[in-house]
Amino acid sequence: MIHTPLCDLLEIRHPVVLGGMASGTSVPLVAAVSNAGGLGTLGVSTIPPGDLPGIMAAIREGTGKPFGVNFLLFMVTGEGFAAALEAAPPIMAFAWPRAEQDLADYFDRSREAGCKVMFSAGSVPGALRAKAAGADVIVAQGTDGGGHVGWMASMALLPMVVDAVAPTPVLAAGGFADGRGLAAALALGAQGVLLGTRFLATVESPLHQNMKQAIVDSDGHDTVLTEIPDLARDRVWPGAMARARRNAFIARWAGREWDLRANQAEAAAGLLRAAEEGDVDNASLPYGQDAGLIHDIPPAGDIVTRIVEEAEEVLSKRLPGFVRNG
Ligand SMILES: Cc1cc2nc3c(=O)[nH]c(=O)nc-3n(C[C@H](O)[C@H](O)[C@H](O)COP(=O)(O)O)c2cc1C
Repeated sequence: MIHTPLCDLLEIRHPVVLGGMASGTSVPLVAAVSNAGGLGTLGVSTIPPGDLPGIMAAIREGTGKPFGVNFLLFMVTGEGFAAALEAAPPIMAFAWPRAEQDLADYFDRSREAGCKVMFSAGSVPGALRAKAAGADVIVAQGTDGGGHVGWMASMALLPMVVDAVAPTPVLAAGGFADGRGLAAALALGAQGVLLGTRFLATVESPLHQNMKQAIVDSDGHDTVLTEIPDLARDRVWPGAMARARRNAFIARWAGREWDLRANQAEAAAGLLRAAEEGDVDNASLPYGQDAGLIHDIPPAGDIVTRIVEEAEEVLSKRLPGFVRNG
């Protein structure tokens, strides 16, 4: 068993967290991860505020264990945040604030509601901003990961963030998909891992089966950092591009962003249609470089168990063999 102080803080058995992906999580996925002893987190940024109480109740029906909800701060609404506070999830997770937003206000109100506060940062300044505002846990999110990411790779970013925010516990995100990754993250100073892409290819993931299969089929070399899906959706992110599959949709608009702006509504409708139809060439398919480590579509709970068992093997059997006295 692998146990870090973060497990005590979050009251979880295993230091494995499901990233709260607005376009990649669901109640069954969150419940499955939490029930397996990890921390399930629901991305709630695109859920209508009125639906939140029912959805939180459904998570609580699905699991008696701790879970989190994730807000993209640049698009949070007062009504949505108030609904989440009312339901008081054990963990309130945040990412991607605008420069002028007051993090301490969101963090303080979350804590007053009884929630622990988690914040994802893709840079050391971003992590320090969250520490200054009082985050309980900071996620160091490397550019290797799927979805909206920063510019620093996990290997360098993670220990830099660990050093900068100590003693605040840090979770490693971006490119982690197996037990070797968890062992490496612990060696770099993290207290656990947060996974997005790995959990997209699971039985409980809400993605179309073709999208899950595309992740399994990927060799990890087929992603690109791009603004094209955001331009198509007419959504400007503060300081982020998205890592997504370099498919026909991206190729059609690359270098022709001016044309995409002129045809935005049509492009947005095309994206929606492609997502519904499972058209992996014409949908936006955000996933990380760690897709190259993903070879199956198992139940999410099996992923949690598998990761901790493999990390335990690496830490207790493989690595100690490399240490010699004298
Ligand atoms: C499809 C998708 C949607 C995401 N949506 C969010 C989100 O709404 N909020 C957030 O904080 N992070 C979001 N992320 C980032 C993840 O939380 C996590 O940091 C990232 O997936 C880690 O890298 P990995 O994909 O290599 O595991 C998203 C990632 C993906 C792949």
